[in-house]
Amino acid sequence: MSICYRTEERVFQLDTPGSSYLMGLVDEEGFVGHIYYGRKLGGDDLRYLLRTEERPFVPGKNNRERNAFLDSFPMEYPGSGSGDYREGAIEVRTRGGHQVVMPLYRSHKIYPGKPELPGLPATFGGEEDCDTLELVLWDQVLKLEAVLYYTAFRKLDVITRSVRVRNQGGEELYLTKVMSVAMDMDNREYDMLTLHGGWARERKLQRCPVALGKQSTGSIRGESSHQEHPFLALAEKGCSQKQGEVYALNFVYSGNFLAQTEGNQFDSVRVMMGIHPHQFCWRLEPGEQFQAPEAVLVYSCQGLGKMTRTFHDLYRSHLLRGEYKEKKRPILLNSWEAAYFDFNTDTLLKLAGQAAELGIEMLVMDDGWFGRRNDDNSSLGDWEVNEEKLSGGLKYLVDQVNQLGMKFGIWFEPEMISPDSDLFREHPDWALQVPGRGPSLTRNQLVLDLSRSEVVDCIYEKVAKVLRSANIEYVKWDMNRQLNDMGSIALPPDRQGELYHRYVLAVYELQRRMTEEFPHILLENCSGGGGRYDPGMLYYSPQIWCSDDTDAVERLSIQEGTAMIYPLSAMGAHVSDCPNHILGRTTPFATRGYVALAGTFGYELDVARISEADRAMIPEQVAMYHKYNDLVRQGDYYRLASYQENHGYDCWQVVSKDRTECLVTYIQVLSRPNVRSRRIFLEGLAPDRQYQIEGEERTYRGDTLMYGGLLMKPMQGDFQGTLIYLKMV
Ligand code: DGJ
Repeated sequence: MSICYRTEERVFQLDTPGSSYLMGLVDEEGFVGHIYYGRKLGGDDLRYLLRTEERPFVPGKNNRERNAFLDSFPMEYPGSGSGDYREGAIEVRTRGGHQVVMPLYRSHKIYPGKPELPGLPATFGGEEDCDTLELVLWDQVLKLEAVLYYTAFRKLDVITRSVRVRNQGGEELYLTKVMSVAMDMDNREYDMLTLHGGWARERKLQRCPVALGKQSTGSIRGESSHQEHPFLALAEKGCSQKQGEVYALNFVYSGNFLAQTEGNQFDSVRVMMGIHPHQFCWRLEPGEQFQAPEAVLVYSCQGLGKMTRTFHDLYRSHLLRGEYKEKKRPILLNSWEAAYFDFNTDTLLKLAGQAAELGIEMLVMDDGWFGRRNDDNSSLGDWEVNEEKLSGGLKYLVDQVNQLGMKFGIWFEPEMISPDSDLFREHPDWALQVPGRGPSLTRNQLVLDLSRSEVVDCIYEKVAKVLRSANIEYVKWDMNRQLNDMGSIALPPDRQGELYHRYVLAVYELQRRMTEEFPHILLENCSGGGGRYDPGMLYYSPQIWCSDDTDAVERLSIQEGTAMIYPLSAMGAHVSDCPNHILGRTTPFATRGYVALAGTFGYELDVARISEADRAMIPEQVAMYHKYNDLVRQGDYYRLASYQENHGYDCWQVVSKDRTECLVTYIQVLSRPNVRSRRIFLEGLAPDRQYQIEGEERTYRGDTLMYGGLLMKPMQGDFQGTLIYLKMV
């Protein structure tokens, strides 16, 4: 058992292979204090770290200075409005309008395994994988129970947290804030790491010192977003890929989130992560409960690299699900950049025929096959095949594609409705809207009010009917706008504040239904590229389209930021045509292949329209994918150099778990005159074993490659790349 309660000390200790997490109960009232999180410790009594012997004393000894205690004590799950002037983790309003809440210890339970979170995605683990502590807190005045869930993984330095709140009183309560995790830590001059970006340039790392006062990242866009990311880490100064302590938090949720630090007067920092309180207000009837999503905590004392590998292992084994979770994915050709809206049965079959000859395994028909959709102005919601374009119907097309030996995939954007659609003409009240306000459009589309079960049922049936009609083996689920004008015609006034979260729950419900009815379909999530790339969506789809930007150089940083948390097997990446459609940049076809190889790999181009030389390279790239994909999907990932930092070159490495194989990808972004070769230091090899580089005679010891390094000769021209494959001999 990795969790224990030491009754004498009234201390809980959670252990993972390399970390310990301690909390203690203080005073008769049962304040829960955060004692320690960090490197693994033995069983010493650490209560002195709570500093309760220093002034101010605990309220039981000095109630005269109660506020001074509340405002300095390292609270494990701080309430609000009663004397702790730092921001609370939970806020509640009563019918009478009062807003004080103070959850204190009531009871606890420890057991092996991990419970599911009703209606929400979460990591999972069996009794042999992890142990769970349920810490029950109670506000006596509100009759409000807050159960803090902690799961410690036995083989990974991971602790997950979530909170379930239940109204046990006789009157309704309004929950206006509920963080999934809060932690008061001493600020040892940490840096705060967050990921930011925009459309076509998602997830770039930002690092800045944790300051006094509040610093946060968060989304109020209704999705996790291109702009921000539900990730926050505190890293020791100087923490690098290989060295240093880091505490990372990742939120298993796909809607509004807040991740915040608050440095305060006593040099401690309160870290929180949860649903963003912006416009959040959940009415809890007597007896009702609210389940907050899960936050994943990863601890590493071996730098960011170890943090990354822990996330990858956790998500590959305890988050991704379904048939494809561990399987090689078919190499697809997506029609989007190949044809946009301009296709029909004949052109698609021609494309498929040519692609099949080159070894491509699946045709994906992207946007434009339904309703009267010939551009992005209409038809979302009308999920019926446009037979003017697809003469012969969908089944005919799919059968023909199958006859070519290829699988078939299709695109949907189920959450949306076009003002110019039959669905909208029939149900104008089905769009999110605030009465009296004109809607603010994006891409000429509105968002469906998924808080209504009749809307969810109708959309599900429309999508499922298409999927049942032919042998469809892949779905790309897109979402091309963020949420605003948050109003539901169906919700009562005091439930409008539930809309953002109800929307996310409905997306999960739709994807749950789809993956249960069609377990053989490979689902890829997408949101205008990587606008909803988060662990919540990964629970339903084992891969997510990383970005609409397919330029190989831009992809280096997008994929670096993404792979910092998420496994390569989950990163949607394609080779596209040049000049790149977004940037106009031309990069070598081979380099585009190396970059896409670090993800799911596929194509997004018209094979007939690219140069003969590029086309001739496709079969080689297909072979390259088949040769290396097992290693890429399953191996340990090491970031050796970052183009974002050095502006010259990018380099990453994947090592098989048994350390017998390793693939290094090196991209020289800009060529420079009069330079010598660069030294690249490999990682993760067996130091005393011999490795041979494919195509070379000599062998190297693992320690030579790691500490002596490899020399990378300058290459002629910009954007050049190379792969180095090593095998233990
Ligand atoms: C945004 C996606 O990221 C693209 O790949 C493509 O599917 C378009 N939407 C289609 O509208």
